Amino acid sequence: MPRTPHNPWPTCQAGPCIAPSLLACDFSRAGQQIEAVIAAGAGVLHVDIMDGHFVPNLSMGPGFVQKIRRFTDHPLDVHIMVDDPAYYIERFADAGADSITFHIEAADNPAELIARLRQLGLGVGVTLKPGTKAESLWPIIDEVDMVLVMTVEPGYGGQKFMPEMLDKISAIAQRLGESQRLQVDGGINPETVKLCAASGADVFVAGENIFASDDIDQAVKRLQQAAISAVS
Ligand code: DX5
Ligand code: ZN
Repeated sequence: MPRTPHNPWPTCQAGPCIAPSLLACDFSRAGQQIEAVIAAGAGVLHVDIMDGHFVPNLSMGPGFVQKIRRFTDHPLDVHIMVDDPAYYIERFADAGADSITFHIEAADNPAELIARLRQLGLGVGVTLKPGTKAESLWPIIDEVDMVLVMTVEPGYGGQKFMPEMLDKISAIAQRLGESQRLQVDGGINPETVKLCAASGADVFVAGENIFASDDIDQAVKRLQQAAISAVS
C-alpha cells in the first residue's frame, strides 16, 4: 500500500532549508564544524557517498555515518551515488541515516527500493543526474518524500552550477505535493540559491560555499536569507 510522503526531518519543517554537505568539511575539525552549521540553522546534514563506480570518485562509507550519528541527533540525509543502492541501504540505515536519497539511474527496481526504505523507517529521496530527464521520475514521484535535482555532474564538490537545470526544477516542483520537498545539490551559493528557490526548490545542499568560507555561521545564514528573499 503506498504511504503518504512525510517530512523525515523535524528540524526542516517549512520554508527554505539549508543542507550542508559534509563532503566539504574539514575532517580534522568535523565536530566543531557540524556544531557551527547546526547553530547557524542548517536543517539537515547531507552526506555524500561515492563508490568509485557510479561516479569516478570515492568518499566515505557507513562508518562515517555511524560516527556522525553518535555525535549529533540532527537529521542525516545520505545521498548514495553507488551502483548498487539495494545493497547499501541497510548498511546506511543501520549506521543511523534518517533518510536515503538514491539515484534513479542506478535503481533496477525503484518501487522495491522505496518499499524497503519505508520498511526500515527511513525518509525516501530520489535523485537524478543532469542528463536524466524529469519524466524518469513520474512513475514513482508520488511515493517519495523528496526529490533531489543534481545541478552539477555528481562526483565532486566545488563545481559550477548548471543553469540549464532550472527548467527541470520547475517541472518537478509542479508535480510535487505540499508535503514533499525539492532539493538541489551542486554549485549552490547565494546567487544560485535564489534561482533555484524561485524555480520551486526548498532544500539547498551546499558544500564549498559553507565549509570553504571563513565564517561558517554567516555562510549558512546568507544562503538561508537569499532563499527566503527569492520567495517572499
Ligand atoms: C556532488 C555532491 C554534492 C557536493 C556539493 O556529487 O552530491 O553534495 O558535495 O558540493 P558543492 O556545494 O561544493 O558544489
Ligand atoms: Zn550530494
